[in-house]
Amino acid sequence: MTIAIYAGTFDPFTLGHEDVLRRACQIFEEVIVAVAADTGRQTFFSFQERVELAQAALKDVKGVRVVGFQGLLSEFVRSTGASVLIRGVRNGSDFDYETRMACVNHALNKNVQTIFFPPINGTQSISGSLVREIHRLGGDVSAFVSPVVCQALEAKKGTAQ
Ligand code: COA
Repeated sequence: MTIAIYAGTFDPFTLGHEDVLRRACQIFEEVIVAVAADTGRQTFFSFQERVELAQAALKDVKGVRVVGFQGLLSEFVRSTGASVLIRGVRNGSDFDYETRMACVNHALNKNVQTIFFPPINGTQSISGSLVREIHRLGGDVSAFVSPVVCQALEAKKGTAQ
């Protein structure tokens, strides 16, 4: 059985992420959504909130486990026995960044291959920072995130983002 890992900051988990994940589930028997604790940047949602939101957004998706991880992704991959990393690639700049990450992760763990998913379902304009900004300015983000993430954003209204 090939285990695949879909890692990210997921601040928050968007419908773009969900689209990639659902398509990955059509290929792999088990997909682990791995929420990174150490992302090198200040996040709007805490580590625990990001894990809980991804869990809630994906509660009806079979074959998926959501976990948090600390430290290097390549080491986390090793600890799970996974051999595939999944990444969504929306445009040319994502491709440059993701190619660098794929090379580095492969250099750190020769047993891991990265597979890119293009945005075939109209999700190419979704990003976490845009969702946070639209929400901060009072806009409707329901086209970009699941209802449970909308509620979490509402609950944090007024918090710096
Ligand atoms: N659809 C919609 N949005 C997408 C998307 C898709 N298919 N794919 C990415 N995004 C967006 C996210 O919303 C986010 O937007 P934002 O920057 O505006 O907030 C951005 O693209 C990337 O976020 P995310 O998808 O959560 O992934 P990431 O690039 O933050 O993940 C890690 C990076 C966590 C995988 C990487 O930093 C890591 O591995 N960290 C662990 C430490 C490590 O091993 N470092 C060395 C790595 S080589």
